[in-house]
Amino acid sequence: MAYVDLQRRMVLRRLGGVAALSTLAGAGGWFGGFRPGALAASEPTSMAMEGPFDVDLRLRAHPDEVSILPGAPSNVWRYTAERLAGPEETLTPVGESYAGPLIRLRRGQRLRVRIDNDLPEDTTVHWHGLHVPPEVDGQPRLPIEPATSTTVAFDVVDRAGLYWYHPHPHGPDGGRVGFQSYAGLAGPLIISDDTERALGLPDGERELVLILQDRTFTDSNELQYIGGGMGGMMTRMRGFRGERVLVNGHPDARREVATQPHRLRLLNGSNSRIYKLAWNDGRAVTVIGTDGGLLSRPEQRRSVTLAPAQRIDLWVDFGDTEPGQSVQLVSEEYELDMMGGRGMMGGGGMMGQGMMDERMGEMMGSERLSLVTFDIVARANDSGTLPERLAQDLPASPVQADTPVRRFELGMRMMQGFTMNGRRMEGTTVADDEIVRLGQTEIWEFVNNTMMPHPIHVHGLQFRIQERIPAGGKSDLHDGIIDAGLHDTVLVFPEERVRIALIFENFEGLYMYHCHNMEHEDTGMMRYFRVVA
Ligand code: C2O
Ligand code: CU
Ligand code: CU
Repeated sequence: MAYVDLQRRMVLRRLGGVAALSTLAGAGGWFGGFRPGALAASEPTSMAMEGPFDVDLRLRAHPDEVSILPGAPSNVWRYTAERLAGPEETLTPVGESYAGPLIRLRRGQRLRVRIDNDLPEDTTVHWHGLHVPPEVDGQPRLPIEPATSTTVAFDVVDRAGLYWYHPHPHGPDGGRVGFQSYAGLAGPLIISDDTERALGLPDGERELVLILQDRTFTDSNELQYIGGGMGGMMTRMRGFRGERVLVNGHPDARREVATQPHRLRLLNGSNSRIYKLAWNDGRAVTVIGTDGGLLSRPEQRRSVTLAPAQRIDLWVDFGDTEPGQSVQLVSEEYELDMMGGRGMMGGGGMMGQGMMDERMGEMMGSERLSLVTFDIVARANDSGTLPERLAQDLPASPVQADTPVRRFELGMRMMQGFTMNGRRMEGTTVADDEIVRLGQTEIWEFVNNTMMPHPIHVHGLQFRIQERIPAGGKSDLHDGIIDAGLHDTVLVFPEERVRIALIFENFEGLYMYHCHNMEHEDTGMMRYFRVVA
């Protein structure tokens, strides 16, 4: 075991470098030079993974009081962390609010984290987007009880990119993901590597991590989540939406910048809100990366759509502004056209169809929101340009004519909630058609038969978006969709069909797929699947 680990370590180290990346195209793996088979000789027993560890952390989930709005402090739940070993850059605070610290890792590192649950209820820590063994994936079947700890360890094998960590508890009465992350439990995680560094993208003060979350406060500044009764039920169905947007846990976010290029790394950490990102002065939004890291080439849009759990890497040059000016990143107003004749309750039961459509259109759309104001405070000469080429092209798609297609119909069960192939969360139960083969490439096709968009997330891997077949009337959010690159969460609009291509590499066992509208997943729009050899 020790020998195998040592070998693996060396393989990863070697693959982490620039030279390794040139082998990527032929490697078959999508997430960057981590060769399937490198792990094959050892079982994925990361709980017992041996050191030495390049990074050793202690992550505590606990209640706290932080000042968010003027006046009284707010009660929150949050992560705080301590670095026992590893480079100093590993942990940086994200503002002074509740947001979990930024964890910076390098590809090839071996990481160990002891997680202390000092909350009054079960929790877990899920490493969203990372290719890690099932035992350390923070799934609901592995709860950490109050006043206990769990230690997880894994190798950092993913591409350079912005990922994140958040709780994933789900008991017999439903999930607590929405509640716990709303209370403040979520943090960003950045993986970097030498190839990305060599691009010379803006860093230091010019690289900003921005977590978007919407929150509602009571008059005494307490966070307000979902109430009971009919209103609460409707909110759960749509997903919770807060009255104001916090960035890194702060209201009215402002940043002072110079007339230079900046890299903005955004995470939509909201429970259910979709953002339509744009610049208030009409400049194009330049996208350089998605969930799974850099695109091969930048893409520009007038606005960019960011669904819950998704990340987007933006590049912006304030070189065309003058000190004294400000530029705002906003979420533009949008309407989501609730298409077709199908009623939300299945056949238009509770309310008349017309009224329901109107109601839902209103409920799903969003008003214009100001997210971050950039105040230009200084002139700077060194401008730096955006490279035309970012990451290497992804390897040719492994999808063949005979690649199996697995179809998932997103539906709705009267008064209960959303379903996938008519099913809802049933503990760790896995149906026959939820078993996939290790090493196999598959296409998963999500067909949205509901009147709401669903951000569908698959654990433990990054996938490619192969095809998107929209229904007739496209919403204006469609134009802002970035389907290039690698993703772990894909937004599927009403009456749309989206095909993603996945490979199940390296690890056998249970993983999850679910809607990342947190209220949807908590109310059961979530299932396990199993990878078998
Ligand atoms: Cu962001 Cu199942 O997770
Ligand atoms: Cu996840
Ligand atoms: Cu959903």
